[in-house]
Amino acid sequence: MIPQLQQNALVAGARIRGLGSAQPEQVVTNEDIAASGVETTDEWIRDRVGIVERRFARADESLVDMASDAGAKALADAGLAPSEIDAVIVATCTMPSQIPNAAAQVAERIGVSAAPAFDVNAACAGFCYGLGTAADMVRAGSAAHVLVIGAEKLTDWVDPNDRSTCIIFADGAGAAVVGAAAEDEPPGIGPVAAGSAGDLAETIVIPDRDSFIHQEGQTVFRWATTQMAPVAMDAVERAGVALADIDVLVPHQANLRIVEAIAKRLRKAGARSDMTVADDITRSGNTSSASIPLALDHMRAEGRVRSGDVALLVGFGAGLSYAGQVVVLP
Ligand code: UT7
Repeated sequence: MIPQLQQNALVAGARIRGLGSAQPEQVVTNEDIAASGVETTDEWIRDRVGIVERRFARADESLVDMASDAGAKALADAGLAPSEIDAVIVATCTMPSQIPNAAAQVAERIGVSAAPAFDVNAACAGFCYGLGTAADMVRAGSAAHVLVIGAEKLTDWVDPNDRSTCIIFADGAGAAVVGAAAEDEPPGIGPVAAGSAGDLAETIVIPDRDSFIHQEGQTVFRWATTQMAPVAMDAVERAGVALADIDVLVPHQANLRIVEAIAKRLRKAGARSDMTVADDITRSGNTSSASIPLALDHMRAEGRVRSGDVALLVGFGAGLSYAGQVVVLP
């Protein structure tokens, strides 16, 4: 006889319950990079990428430190104790070690005892993949609360003398707590629109542990500016809302020109002219999987977004991989 295996009770919807972020103290301006001997200018970086300054971690400031800091803040923001977290997911592509992963160490640091803990490597799309996985875990009844963190120490993997990458990439972490929607609350995390373009795998690479990151900037730029608005629109459609319902657009902060190109295309397709568009890259640089939650947390601190706002997230990068979803802000 085939045994009937018991299943967890399903939950109708998941919501983001709290946000948090952490950045290193050290601010590095464009002038600082030029002064270090890299052949670049403040004007070129502002014009071509939109970055004014970014944060670099000290040698003794680790990815796990930043992730734990951001995670603890998200927990406090959600009003939850560590014991109420059932799983920890860290999206990252810059762990210095292949094993152990970051998530188990972060769980230990913030006092989440024996929680399921795993890393997701989808590079700059990682946070959206992690958020989608967390929402699915909550909806499937396998966790009541999941802590999702995007954390990167990209400076460990960037050649400080390569002007095509050292001006772009930076360090930081952002986090969200995902929990079940209450019975009288609508779901607050829409289905993920995700995919990959493995034919472009060679365009962003760290081929081995002794190499720095290499990026074919123009190819990725063209791909992102043409392919990511349709992914964002797919996420909107899957969530059953209209582009005009989107209050906040938060694309991965890779390049301000890419962010603006996506916003322009979405507005042409029906998004509102007063939709708030994340521009956190100006102060934080490109922090890969951390960029979306960092931008959300900063925009909230600045009063540019409010609780209940409908936000459209879209992450994209190495793989190439991409993922986006509509969320209601906590
Ligand atoms: O986060 C993961 C996903 N990544 C992305 O989405 C990145 C997408 N790509 C980009 O954002 C842009 O391609 C970059 C910011 C990486 C580069 O900007 P670009 O406008 O595509 O510049 P380019 O590589 O085509 O270079 C144009 C010129 C070149 O000089 P020549 O050959 O025209 O004389 C470069 O050597 O600019 C030069 N250049 C620089 N000049 C001053 C390249 N980097 C610099 C620099 N400062 N830092």
